[in-house]
Amino acid sequence: MASVTTGGRTPLIAGNWKMNLNHLQAIAFVQKLAWSLKDARHDFGAVEVAVFPPFTDLRSVQTLVSGDKLQIAYGAQDVSQHASGAFTGEIAAPFLAQLDCAYVIIGHSERRTLHGETDEIVAAKTAAAIGAGVVPLICVGETAEDLETRGASAVPVAQLKVALASIPKGSDFVVAYEPVWAIGSGQAATPEQAQQVAKALRDTIAEHLGDEAAAATRILYGGSVKADNIAGFMRQADVDGALVGGASLDVEGFSAIARYQKHVGV
Ligand code: 13P
Repeated sequence: MASVTTGGRTPLIAGNWKMNLNHLQAIAFVQKLAWSLKDARHDFGAVEVAVFPPFTDLRSVQTLVSGDKLQIAYGAQDVSQHASGAFTGEIAAPFLAQLDCAYVIIGHSERRTLHGETDEIVAAKTAAAIGAGVVPLICVGETAEDLETRGASAVPVAQLKVALASIPKGSDFVVAYEPVWAIGSGQAATPEQAQQVAKALRDTIAEHLGDEAAAATRILYGGSVKADNIAGFMRQADVDGALVGGASLDVEGFSAIARYQKHVGV
């Protein structure tokens, strides 16, 4: 089935597990997810599916995915800006590359808020990921207060601009627009709101890296995405997928989100 987004970008449905599921639970989950998608004859070439487990799960997920030749991609939820050295507790991007991580989430609002990650740190982590051959999935988004005082796109655009300065032309990267007020609140943005900000983010990429990069880069929406609201987002011209939190922890729910093309017309 053809992609419903424009620009030839392959949609990406990504599950951010946050601090949930240990490595044994991760193995069971990924196995069940693969079965569910296979049963439904999911076309992984048409819609890419990725999971983002905690660091301690990644080796187990790698072993399962490579052993069973699963088409599910995976990545980490954070990365150090440094390649090695005296940084207790940190994980370097080359380590993730060694675990065949395709992606790494950078600058999630929980990292920005709870761990004091600035736009500059996000930019440095983005550069580290790209340098190691891991595709950064850069998160941006406004708080409820930002929305009220500055509108929806001002803060996400400003955040993205700083990260873009660290991205060499021709690099593969993904942007996730996650309004902070929509995360875990059950109150998703409307598809029109998501489209408006995704378009502003794409225009910003065009300004900094050119039209080709803007056309090729996938922009995801995240924040209270569920099986019953995904279709509305995926109908938007500039929304190329979703970064799913809570609903990504339920195998059948996440599988249904990945198979949104089946219900996008309803
Ligand atoms: P929810 O889907 O639980 O709102 O979380 C979104 C999110 O933060 C994904 O990174």
